[in-house]
Amino acid sequence: MSESIIKLHNIYKSFGDKHILQGLNLEIHQGETFVILGPSGCGKSVSLKIITGLLAPDCGKVEVFGKDVSRFNEHQWSDIRKDFGFLFQNAALFDSLNVEENIAFTLKQSKQYSKEEMAHIVDKNLQLIGLPGIQKKMPSELSGGMKKRVGLARAIALNPKVIFYDEPTTGLDPIRASGIDQLINKLKDTLNITSVVITHDLKSAFTIADRVGLHFDGKISNISTPNEFKSSKNPMVQQFLTGSTSGPIQ
Ligand SMILES: Nc1ncnc2c1ncn2[C@@H]1O[C@H](COP(=O)(O)OP(=O)(O)O)[C@@H](O)[C@H]1O
Ligand SMILES: [Mg+2]
Repeated sequence: MSESIIKLHNIYKSFGDKHILQGLNLEIHQGETFVILGPSGCGKSVSLKIITGLLAPDCGKVEVFGKDVSRFNEHQWSDIRKDFGFLFQNAALFDSLNVEENIAFTLKQSKQYSKEEMAHIVDKNLQLIGLPGIQKKMPSELSGGMKKRVGLARAIALNPKVIFYDEPTTGLDPIRASGIDQLINKLKDTLNITSVVITHDLKSAFTIADRVGLHFDGKISNISTPNEFKSSKNPMVQQFLTGSTSGPIQ
């Protein structure tokens, strides 16, 4: 088995009297696509924010790339985040910037690239996402699926080791959603990237996942391969798979 590059140990997080994470454990292996499934409002985005240092846990330990980052300050986190790419829910493109400027945004901020290098990376990434030559288009000229793809081209601009997707197919029709799934698989295969994906799109989950886990009751449980998950007799998994309104998930 590959090494774990992200480890969450016994994480707790509450907002007032809402106890969202209650002893959550998770390990993400190098090179895998790990899908977190779970009902709305159960804390999936909160968990992702804890992994990426955008929220601090109340207690518990977070390890990233073998380092204990639990007490990291913002400056130290920004160093870690250089190896992270994000495609977050509602992560919009900047409307006033064209596609090229959107993708080059983080490259520019890093101040490590010449104009030519940035143009080359933009060109290469647009080819990778299957939208070559749209550098000068404005976001308003793009469909929802295209915007997501450009968001992905931006997310991989700095060659991340891990990419985090928060509901990447939500709001897309089934054909566009499949396109994003194929792209997630392609990035994994071509860039050997590790992916952590939150979704409640089961079809998407089973198309992309090496392992899945169910986020419920403050924990991630039933971690298994898609096939094991599909044949699980666990009542929570069964309810999630069938969409039944009666069961442990209310
Ligand atoms: N910064 C915050 N302050 C207060 N409550 C929050 C905050 N972030 C999330 N929550 C609450 O935590 C719960 C889980 O949220 P979230 O992780 O976004 O759910 P989901 O599983 O749908 O991604 C929700 O009840 C949400 O209202
Ligand atoms: Mg969410």
